[in-house]
Amino acid sequence: MKSDSLEGRTALVTGASRGIGAAIALALDRAGARVVLVARSRAGLDATAAELRNSPLVLEADLADPDVPARLVSEVRQRLGEIDVLVNNAAVAMRLSTAELNAALVDELYAVNVRAPLLLISALVPSMVERGRGVIISISSVSAVVGTPQRSAYAATKGAIDAATRSLAIELGPHGIRVNSVAPGVVDTDMWARNKAIPGVIEEIEALTPLRRWSQPDDIADVVVFLASDAARFVTGETICVDGGMARTANLYGGAV
Ligand SMILES: NC(=O)c1ccc[n+]([C@@H]2O[C@H](COP(=O)([O-])OP(=O)(O)OC[C@H]3O[C@@H](n4cnc5c(N)ncnc54)[C@H](OP(=O)(O)O)[C@@H]3O)[C@@H](O)[C@H]2O)c1
Repeated sequence: MKSDSLEGRTALVTGASRGIGAAIALALDRAGARVVLVARSRAGLDATAAELRNSPLVLEADLADPDVPARLVSEVRQRLGEIDVLVNNAAVAMRLSTAELNAALVDELYAVNVRAPLLLISALVPSMVERGRGVIISISSVSAVVGTPQRSAYAATKGAIDAATRSLAIELGPHGIRVNSVAPGVVDTDMWARNKAIPGVIEEIEALTPLRRWSQPDDIADVVVFLASDAARFVTGETICVDGGMARTANLYGGAV
């Protein structure tokens, strides 16, 4: 079997009803995995599932509910068996000035972006430890790596994910479990639809990106497949930027001079 094959593996992807999560589910399926698709929207999940070949399992769930992660893991275990790969992709994004911040919004961001991934990991780890293997991948953001405007609360949730990734890599590495995150830059999904409509934004993002284009969801998905596979067998504790070079460069003049 090729080292990048996921044949025989089961992967759970949160936020698989659209955008990056749907692309990740498709790419994992193409690599041979059986994929469990999780999100709130049944219609979106069904649309993703219709593209997959390896008998996907669709589970409608609201990850803002703290009881959901353990319930999901137990349901998958009963219906399909153990989960080999967890992809924490679902998240809420908000552009908020400090004046707009309030407890409810901060709690909403943390519930989905931080608490749910940690509780999913906590529910999954015992069986991964027992089997001596497992892969955990979380989708972080350029906002965790460099400062981005009006995103203090969102960026804090993504920074938390990267910090947890490094801590978990130490705790779980001795058990054969790898833990990494992937930090996209600006990806052409619903998350950016509103901002994209602002005149000049498309060109501004291109100018800030050394590779001079917006990222597409499959740019992120291909790196997730790599991390999920044995091709990445000695990679753990990493945050991999998949952003066309945006976070690691200081393109202060937008490429104009
Ligand atoms: N797009 C970007 O430019 C960008 C950049 C950096 C990082 N990211 C990160 O990449 C990931 C995916 O982003 P995206 O652009 O694909 O976002 P998106 O198009 O807004 O999709 C978000 C996904 O998360 C799910 N979700 C949200 N709240 C949920 C909840 N309470 N329970 C269950 N599922 C929930 C949504 O499904 P339902 O609505 O059906 O529940 C949807 O499938 C996120 O972690 C995001 O922070 C995106």
